[in-house]
Amino acid sequence: MTALDIVVMAAGKGTRMKSRIPKVLQRLAGRALLLHVLGQAARLAPRRVVVVTGHGAPEVEAACARSMGVEGYFDHQFELQCVRQEPQLGTGHAVQQAAPLLADDGLVLVLSGDVPLTQADTLRALVAAAQGERLALLTVTLPDPTGYGRIVRAADGSVQRIVEHKDASAAERALDEIYSGIMAVPARLLKGWLARLSNDNAQREYYLTDVVAMAVQDGVPVVAHCISDALQVAGVNSPAQLAALERAHQARQAQALMEQGVRLADPARFDLRDDAYSGTPAELRCAQDVEIDVGCIFTGRVELGEGVQIGAHCHISNARIAAGAVIHPYTHIAGEQAGVDVGPGALVGPFARLRPGAQLGPQVHIGNFVEVKNSTLAEGAKANHLAYLGDASVGARVNYGAGSITANYDGANKHRTVLEADVHVGSNCVLVAPVTVGAGATVGGGSTIAKDVPAGALSVARGRQVNIPGWQRPVKQAKA
Ligand code: UD1
Ligand code: CA
Repeated sequence: MTALDIVVMAAGKGTRMKSRIPKVLQRLAGRALLLHVLGQAARLAPRRVVVVTGHGAPEVEAACARSMGVEGYFDHQFELQCVRQEPQLGTGHAVQQAAPLLADDGLVLVLSGDVPLTQADTLRALVAAAQGERLALLTVTLPDPTGYGRIVRAADGSVQRIVEHKDASAAERALDEIYSGIMAVPARLLKGWLARLSNDNAQREYYLTDVVAMAVQDGVPVVAHCISDALQVAGVNSPAQLAALERAHQARQAQALMEQGVRLADPARFDLRDDAYSGTPAELRCAQDVEIDVGCIFTGRVELGEGVQIGAHCHISNARIAAGAVIHPYTHIAGEQAGVDVGPGALVGPFARLRPGAQLGPQVHIGNFVEVKNSTLAEGAKANHLAYLGDASVGARVNYGAGSITANYDGANKHRTVLEADVHVGSNCVLVAPVTVGAGATVGGGSTIAKDVPAGALSVARGRQVNIPGWQRPVKQAKA
């Protein structure tokens, strides 16, 4: 087996995106386009990957370094190097910059940083087609090939050359087999051809595609590996194309889930993305009989146990939701690094917010406008309305009243609130941490609790009520 080295061209400007962000860092499913390409490239277990950067090079290089630093981000480890292309004089010129880093004994796979949906299997098949000694081109036939390089074949069907759209004659423009921008080629041959490129063409660029005619000239076999799935070679040049690829990618993810038995109310209204906050790659694992209503967004790693129901318009990231739990509509669950756990049979929402470190036990109820952060709730605990639990340990069967909050932050440090089993906290209480309420204790509504409450006690900490009989309200005086 010939060693595989991969070159990813990522120096282009992407003028039509009309963005300050380099094109290859625009996001599809929460992940930079370039990182989609590197992710599939990694699956081929290459010896080395060289990314050619130019426009926005510092940002692009930083994004590469960040992803290399996240454990498990790529399926295989590989050596990554970036080379700068300044100025950008075409795709041939881009690969020329990478050439010194490519060992002569390898096979080189050339990819574009703005073609995000090529699958590893397709790349593997292309590499296999090169057989270590041939030039293999990934091609596809398109109903509208405008703008692409066309595959020109001889009468016997053999590939002769690629002609760029701008250089093509009317007859050549009628050809509908296009070059995807992806090729596999032995390094030793590639280097020889790169040295011979010229920019004698309509765009005054060094075209990588000119190596095809050189291969034919040198008697090196050229094979076109033609696939039928145009999506896999679709490039991103504009916001509209980016959005179209996003929908196509989401449709595929939705399809794959439905094939596993997941019931999506509408596959066109489903999104699964990498998590922007933690950088966690997208992964949605579903047990049997999971139902997901419309408009839900999942980011990062989410696990849904058997029979879990997700209501409409929930946003769920980095969370494990156990069997039988029901997440009602408009719930926001953001596990970030620490994660969120929802126990079996728990009921959450509508309009609930679970933040990092929220750990709900079995049968816990979290109702509308309740926020939980870095807190554990044991079996059967309930906080059903308008409440905040931060840095709290909540025992089994605790009932936490409407409008109650933990004052967990003193302006400098965070402190814990402990509510032991069977505590009842009335409405509108403030629990000033650090504080412990003993098992079975009751806290009267409206109390501000700054001292521990013994088990079984009733604690009331509020102004005493005063009633003034026959009270006359002030009356509005007539203006003079
Ligand atoms: C290229 C192909 C064309 C093919 C099409 C498929 C050439 C000459 N043409 O055309 O046959 O049909 O891709 O999408 O190769 N880049 C650099 N440095 C440069 C120029 C480009 O790194 O100097 C990078 C871009 O960032 C991009 C990739 O190379 O990732 C392709 O460049 P682009 O300008 O989009 O090439 P096309 O004109 O689309
Ligand atoms: Ca392009």
